[in-house]
Amino acid sequence: TMRQINTIAEMRVHINEAKRQGKKVGFVPTMGYLHEGHLSLVRAARETCDLVVMSIFVNPLQFGPNEDFDRYPRDIERDRELARSAGVDLLFTPEVREMYPRPMLTNVSVATVTEPLCGRSRPGHFDGVATVVAKLFQIVQPDYAFFGQKDAQQVAVVTQMTYDLSMPVQVVPCPIVREADGLAMSSRNVYLSLEERSQALVLSRSLKQAEAWLAEGMAIREIRDGLIRMISEMPLASIDYVEVLGYPDLAPVDKPSKGDSIIVALAVRFGKTRLIDNLITTI
Ligand code: PAJ
Repeated sequence: TMRQINTIAEMRVHINEAKRQGKKVGFVPTMGYLHEGHLSLVRAARETCDLVVMSIFVNPLQFGPNEDFDRYPRDIERDRELARSAGVDLLFTPEVREMYPRPMLTNVSVATVTEPLCGRSRPGHFDGVATVVAKLFQIVQPDYAFFGQKDAQQVAVVTQMTYDLSMPVQVVPCPIVREADGLAMSSRNVYLSLEERSQALVLSRSLKQAEAWLAEGMAIREIRDGLIRMISEMPLASIDYVEVLGYPDLAPVDKPSKGDSIIVALAVRFGKTRLIDNLITTI
């Protein structure tokens, strides 16, 4: 049986009791509108932890003024059922006024890894993510926290934060879950029209192509140009970025050497919907 909890105080009571019993706490932070990607994190948590906590909180701090905070999809009834059947023990669903009862004067800001990719196109986004994740970690006190590689830069940011601030939590990156046709699962996929959705398949297709090109030893610049060409063939696609960087440092690479980890990262807008996808591979 799953318990739904709305307040920080009540969370602390349950977490303290679990810790007293020596339970390993696993944490899956989300913004809800759950899909198989989120649920795969719960299953990973179930395997290593005794108590699985999921949060559902659409965090206003990480949305820009012209972004989709107000229209972000929400369906708590459906989420509750999905979370329960995936094996969540505690579902933390605070209101904004519970998390931020007064203006936040504290901000967690991670340098360098936040500069390229989504950090460049969404100023302040990763401050909002790092701040809410730090706060959620204080509330849940997890031994393990599970994050999807779909948001690879987020994994890099959160991992760096836990190292820098000596947080006693192990960040566990989990693989990207895709639809049968290759589209990476995302709560935002519901925004796509049929035509946009079918053209959005160019993202996973071009990542497959990039993987083949990398294996052939094609130059990074040529790969990037080739990907831009492939994606631009879709009339509804408007490219935000196409980058090939080192992982997890997210530093530029021009001539990768054998054994280097590389991320191919894409952000492309289809109509009003901005989609991201990536591939991490070792040369
Ligand atoms: P959200 O977008 O709801 O994602 C919650 C978690 O699910 C993240 O770790 C994300 O990487 C993972 N996820 C999303 N789609 C996935 C997919 N297709 N395959 C695998 N994992 C996937 O990321 C956030 O929320 C927020 O920034 C949050 C960390 C909760 C802070 O507010």
